[in-house]
Amino acid sequence: KMADHLRKFETMFTLTPQRMRMIVEAFKDALETGLAKRDQVVPMIPTYVFGWPTGKETGNYLAVDLGGTNLRVCLVTLQGDGKFEITQSKYRLSEEQKQDDGQLLFDFCAECLKAFIDLNIESGVIENDAVLPLGFTFSYPCSQDRIDHGELIRWTKGFGAPNTEGHDVVAMFRKSLEKLSVPAEVVALTCDTTGTLIASHYVNPKTKIACIFGTGCNAAYMEYVRDIPKLTALNIDPNAEIAINCEWGAFDSFEHEHLPRTKYDLVIDETSNKPGEQAFEKLISGRYLGEILRLIICELIDEGVIFLGQNTYKVEIPYSFDTAFLSLMESDPTDELLMIIGIFTHFFALETTLAERQFFRALAKLVGRRAARLSACGIAAIVSKMGYLEEGCAVGADGSLYNKYPGFADRVHEGLQDIFGEKGRNIVTYHAEDGSGIGSAIVAAMTKIRKEANL
Ligand code: BG6
Ligand code: GLC
Repeated sequence: KMADHLRKFETMFTLTPQRMRMIVEAFKDALETGLAKRDQVVPMIPTYVFGWPTGKETGNYLAVDLGGTNLRVCLVTLQGDGKFEITQSKYRLSEEQKQDDGQLLFDFCAECLKAFIDLNIESGVIENDAVLPLGFTFSYPCSQDRIDHGELIRWTKGFGAPNTEGHDVVAMFRKSLEKLSVPAEVVALTCDTTGTLIASHYVNPKTKIACIFGTGCNAAYMEYVRDIPKLTALNIDPNAEIAINCEWGAFDSFEHEHLPRTKYDLVIDETSNKPGEQAFEKLISGRYLGEILRLIICELIDEGVIFLGQNTYKVEIPYSFDTAFLSLMESDPTDELLMIIGIFTHFFALETTLAERQFFRALAKLVGRRAARLSACGIAAIVSKMGYLEEGCAVGADGSLYNKYPGFADRVHEGLQDIFGEKGRNIVTYHAEDGSGIGSAIVAAMTKIRKEANL
């Protein structure tokens, strides 16, 4: 009986190479449309980061990173020889903070930064009267018309803080810094993808694309200004290169024409704080994968297939099934699947049979594999649009899914080969250097150099 159920889910969650190639074609169109016109579904945001770093960037920079699971504050020293040093502190954001007034969120960032600076002054790392340049990594879609400005288009990843969408987040952050007299000057706004692109190219110049697979999912790459029709009215050198923050998590939002969504994906979308939005991200990112599995489990409970006679209220709580559980389930090395026993007894007070545990593990695999193969479609769309396949390219990747989910990278690579055949091997992802710390500092340094050169 379990085997019949599994076959049903296999059909639902499996992506054939043929289907993947169709998605890639539609994806490419969406990328082109985003470059052609403003305000498109996939916004393709010009970041005002011009070209690659040289490796000779120097100086001390602060970096504040708001965007993944944590708020991070860093002090980065670029040594000018491609090397760097970094010290940092991490703070956890509460679910309430994500929904509280936006200015309060930036106040919190400023408070954490102030505490961090004070600590480093005390230990003599930062000079007492220094006002350090700061790179602000704010990983949500912001439309920019210069490097130190960005209007939040929409919150993603479950954030919903009022009075922020449509506002310049740099201005809001500066207001909080002033209020608390924090000695830092915001010189650049970046997204984690842009930071990752710059930081990973700094250590591996073969890198042409950067991706984040974490709480959210997104990519950035470098584009010639002449190939961005929506910028032609501006007075920018057409031969300059500019980093594009794709915000590809939005692919297929609203219309839902191209991605294979199951009924569980529809429930996630409809019950989210942003129905219709981030359609691609909702099938891939760490914020949602656990919830997909939980919804399947709940359906099987309703149908009387599993956990008959047990109290299932804990697993019925939305978002109670962490994506980290999927990682653990897939990596359980024991024949008895002891880790899976642990998850269900400890977190959900549920007893499982071995057959059930094997079934859950198989389900996790289906959900995780689909996420990786869809990710491959996104990468393939950029590769194919930019013509990177023949010469090959490296893809710097970061985020909890990429770093912690067993086999995620292998499945992405397998997906790329299903799309491109043997040549798919030319595209290789690797774990990128800290994009929002190092990357943000390098962008701040590049900005300083451009300013000094009056560009
Ligand atoms: C970190 C990067 O490793 O991953 C951040 O340095 C990024 O720039 C983050 O935002 C995303 O992952 P997660 O899992 O925290 O969303
Ligand atoms: C979401 C954000 C995007 C970010 C990604 C990964 O998709 O909108 O800006 O890069 O998550 O953190």
